[in-house]
Amino acid sequence: MPWCKGGVGDAGQKHFGTVVCKSCGMIYTAASPEDEAQHIQHHESFLEALRYLGWKKERIVAEFWDGKIVLILPDDPKYAVKKAEDVREIVDNELGFKQVSLSCPAKSKIYLFVSNEKMIVGCLVAESIKQAFRVLSEPGATGQDLLQHQRAWCCSTEPERAVCGISRIWVFCPRRRKGIARRLMDVVRSTFSYGCYLSTDDIAFSDPTPHGKLFATKYCQT
Ligand code: ACO
Repeated sequence: MPWCKGGVGDAGQKHFGTVVCKSCGMIYTAASPEDEAQHIQHHESFLEALRYLGWKKERIVAEFWDGKIVLILPDDPKYAVKKAEDVREIVDNELGFKQVSLSCPAKSKIYLFVSNEKMIVGCLVAESIKQAFRVLSEPGATGQDLLQHQRAWCCSTEPERAVCGISRIWVFCPRRRKGIARRLMDVVRSTFSYGCYLSTDDIAFSDPTPHGKLFATKYCQT
């Protein structure tokens, strides 16, 4: 998968005659009792997967007034890695990443934003990388164009040095625009490489969704 500097992508399709649950993201027909029952079942298992009970030796890398960020490494106890994998599956589902494996699971670091209500409301998967391709700016493209998938983005063909690849970044829908993604990024920059604070230039995003690109453009100020 290519890594892009300066921004990367969300499913923004319109669904006619259907409802999209703002929490679990399931698309269903509200008028159909069968669909509604399926939605309730999916909704509950979705929230269950995001429930975070914690463990004694959790690695808290930041604390805030509204929650904390926990880092999970590949060599952590199985139960911690399993929790991180369960959340990654939810994220992959929402991003439409079907069976996209991590380029190097043994080197990936998973950051979870846990709310005070003990729920995982943010997830970031970071991987070690060596190079990335800069997203070229498109004169005249608006945020609306991006969200409606009206324009594709192009990348330079010249690789640039990069250190950290953000392979997934996701925030629980009802908690978006509260700085959770920004805080996850800040923490990655200070904890990903021991002893150094990464600049936004050291970071690249994998194939971004429109929301991801809008976020990355703002965060990286590109
Ligand atoms: N539209 C426009 N600007 C945005 C958007 C958006 N949807 N989201 C973030 N920004 C910009 C804003 O300038 C925002 O600051 P403001 O709220 O003060 O205006 C700034 O980025 C910081 O935003 P945060 O609040 O930190 O971002 P949030 O916690 O809402 O998370 C994210 C952003 C992760 C993209 C979220 O919308 C999301 O989970 N979307 C669905 C999943 C997705 O598409 N993830 C990206 C995939 S790409 C990849 O994983 C590599």
